[in-house]
This record gives sequence, structure tokens and C-alpha cells, in this order.
Amino acid sequence: MAAGKGTRMKSQLPKVLHLLAGRALLRHVVDTAAQLAARQVVVITGHGADQVEASLVSMAPSADEASVALPIQCVRQEPQLGTGHAVQQALPLLADDALVLVLSGDVPLTRADTLRQLIAASQASDTNNSKDSGRLALLTLDMADPTGYGRIVREGEAVQAIVEHKDATPEQRAQLREVYSGIMAVPARWLKIWLARLDNRNAQGEYYLTDIVKFAVADGVSVVAHKISAAVEVAGVNSPVQLAELERAFQQRTALELMEQGVRLADPARLDVRGQLNCAQDVSIDVNCVFEGRVRLGEGVKIGAHCVIANCVIEAGAVVHPFTHIDGEKLGVTVGEGALIGPFARLRPGAQLGAQVHIGNFVEVKNSTLARGAKANHLAYLGDATVGERVNYGAGSITANYDGANKHRTVIEADVHVGSNCVLIAPITLGAGGTVGGGSTVTKDTPPGALTVARGKQVTVANWTRPQKKPK
Ligand code: UD1
Ligand code: CA
Repeated sequence: MAAGKGTRMKSQLPKVLHLLAGRALLRHVVDTAAQLAARQVVVITGHGADQVEASLVSMAPSADEASVALPIQCVRQEPQLGTGHAVQQALPLLADDALVLVLSGDVPLTRADTLRQLIAASQASDTNNSKDSGRLALLTLDMADPTGYGRIVREGEAVQAIVEHKDATPEQRAQLREVYSGIMAVPARWLKIWLARLDNRNAQGEYYLTDIVKFAVADGVSVVAHKISAAVEVAGVNSPVQLAELERAFQQRTALELMEQGVRLADPARLDVRGQLNCAQDVSIDVNCVFEGRVRLGEGVKIGAHCVIANCVIEAGAVVHPFTHIDGEKLGVTVGEGALIGPFARLRPGAQLGAQVHIGNFVEVKNSTLARGAKANHLAYLGDATVGERVNYGAGSITANYDGANKHRTVIEADVHVGSNCVLIAPITLGAGGTVGGGSTVTKDTPPGALTVARGKQVTVANWTRPQKKPK
């Protein structure tokens, strides 16, 4: 269900498209369905339907390797007449032999394992049920303050109904602490029969999905409540505050998983993973780092404080010093074994750094390959460059790779030494083992092994007196 308005978000963006850990809320739910190997996903849209449906096109298949591509279909619910009415819109797409799992697009943190247990509860063989056609399984939990939620009404142990808060008697409101989470598993065959019987004669004038519980009881189909204790798994997002709370819950969960794998986090409360972070053994991460997209950290990698790292592979033993920004976007970034990066380095898409490369403070690298042992330690720019082994690239030097219309490559062969503050005007090749004197603006290829200097000659005027101010 993703048709709701989300008024309290006070946003132009449909609620289910707000991001949690870099993924739309709805995408979390779809990815969870994918983990369950669902046969199909039907998304019920309404408010912001065009935008929500467009977003789903880019959602399948998921970036998550564990999940498989699954067909996603959308149905529209216009107007929104309640949760039962919402699910009615999906019925024509559901096969009779299907088991339907009803999820909300604004409840992102339900664990696949919890849903597997719910599904198991709906399928457990039932000696009392001669019809043996599956059960209605409700995901429930006890709440200290159940205000606003549908209450589970039992007779003895047996679930009889769900009564919505607004329809509940004062006694029910005061006594019933077990609430319906909004998630159920129900055989499609029964769902079709029961939804046809819904009416909207209730406090809200809505078609309640929850009314099917009493129809199940009337038809002799058992209703089971699978009770969980982790409220965060069924918590919905209605406001920016709740979104931030669930973001923290998600990040805490991620941090715990990483630490269980052996990753050393300086402070699990100061880590943000918005994508997939894979770590080999003995990785350590200092405070306030943000990881986005797909990031892989090799054995023994150390990440300093305040780094933002997206879409890259950092090989074993590399050290990324504080305040470094790495973003591989589509081309990716590779940092080779034992490389030293930062502090304050910037690696952009297509930066491919070999083993033992050093990139120091205020150095920017874009779409460039640096071979083993190359160094650019201070205040430099390497764009569209191919840099050979052991090259030393001096402070303040830049590749002038852009002529205002096209990008050109700079090739710096092995063992070249580029002095400080050089401008290398591409396209250009600096021959192996050559040296470029500091302050040179190099416009022509340089031969191997030679010293090239391209700057104004130093002139000295002896006994020079500076001009004096004239008296008024
Ligand atoms: C619902 C349950 C309630 C449960 C609670 C848990 C009903 C009648 N009540 O109440 O028992 O305790 O969830 O959070 O089901 N939606 C639509 N179309 C609609 C109405 C809602 O798509 O016409 C979507 C909403 O966007 C949301 C979900 O369904 O994702 C639940 O709707 P909401 O209005 O939050 O249900 P509640 O009244 O909170
Ligand atoms: Ca709700």
C-alpha cells in the first residue's frame, strides 16, 4: 500500500519516496519482498501516483545482490477509501493460489525473517481447520500506548476481530494492548471472498482491511497472531521526526552487523551507510564517515574521521586519512593496495590508483590512472591523465585537460618528475624518466630522460631601487 498522502511530511515528495539510508521507503519494502522471493509485487498507488510509479521503473532489479529481479505492477486507488479498498484494487492481479502479504510502503524496517515466520504461521497445518486452506496470519505486538492502532480482540486465546481505535469502546481502549501492525499474510482465495463483503459503516466511513478478521472467524478459517517485540520493524513513517528515528535505527542495525563481522567502528552511533558496504578482515573506521552506493574495503583498510566515500573499491592495507571525499559515481574509483590518501583528498569518477600510490592534501584526481608508487602529495590536479610507476607530481601542478570544448589526455611515463606549479597542456606526453622544472607551462611532448624547463628566465638588476612615493 503506497497510496496514502503523508500530510505530516509537509513535502511535495510523496511520502513513500522519501529516502532512508539513501533508498526510498518504498524501495526498502520492495527489496524485502524480493528477499522473500515473492512471485510478484503489486504496488497500490494514489497520491503522487505518477511519481511513485516512475520511481519503481528504476527500482527493479535491486542493487542488492541478495535480491532477485521480480515483476512489479502498479494499480491505482483513486480516491483513497481505506486500506480494504486499497487492497481491493490489487485483487484482479492476484492468482487464486497465491499467498498475499500485505505491507505498507511507509514501513521500511521489517525483517525478511519476521515475514518468513508470519508466512509459516499462515501455512502451518491446522487440525481444527477441516478446510485446510491456509490461515489468516496477523503480525501483532504489545504496545504500552496503543492509541491510534487497531486492537486485537481475543476470546480466550482465539483471535476474534480487529477493532480500530476510533471504533473501540472505552473498555477496549483501556484494556487491549495488543495491536495489529498493519502486516498480514492471507490466502488470495479468501481475501477475494472477504473483501467483497466489506462495508464502510464505521467511525471513519472507510473500508477497513482489518474487517476481514471477523469474516475469517465467521467462515471457520483460523486466525493466528504472530506477535513480535521489536516495534521498529513495524514502525511507519508519518513525519520527518519519525523518518529520522528510523534512519538512526537502520544505521544502528548496520553498525552492529558490521561489528559482528569484525569491523572496528570508533563509534557505532557516528556511521552512516547509504548503500552496500562490504568489509574484509581488520577494517577500522573512525567517526563521522558516510558510505554511499557500493563500497568495498579490503583487509586492514583504515578510514579516518569525516570521510565521504561512494562507489569505490579500496584494496588491502590502504589508508584514507580524515576529510577525504571519494565518489566513483558510474565509473568507479579504485584505490590500490597500501595506498595513502588524504587528508583532504578528492577522488572523482574514474580515478584508478595502483598499489602504494600517495595522494595528499588538496589533490583532486579524475578519470586518471596512476601506476604503482606514483605520488601527488600536495595541492594538485590530475584529470584525464595516465601516470606511470613512481612518477612524482609536484605541489600545485595541474593537467590543463579541457580546451573549452574537448577533454584531452596527459600521459606521464614512468619515473617522470614533475616539479612544483607546472601546467601540462593536454594532449601531451612526458617521456619516461624525464624531469620538468618547477613553474613550467609545458605545451609540447618532452623526450625521455631529459630536463625540460618552460618558464621565463630569471633576470637580476643590481642595485635596484624601488619607486618612492612623491611628497605632496
Ligand atoms: C492501519 C490499520 C490498523 C493498524 C495500523 C498500523 C486499517 C483499517 N487499520 O491503520 O489496524 O493498527 O494500520 O499502522 O487497516 N493506505 C492506502 N489507501 C487508503 C488508506 C491507506 O494506500 O485508502 C495506505 C497508507 O498509505 C499506509 C497504509 O495504507 O501506507 C496504512 O494506512 P493508515 O491510514 O496509516 O492506516 P491506519 O489508520 O493507521
Ligand atoms: Ca498508520
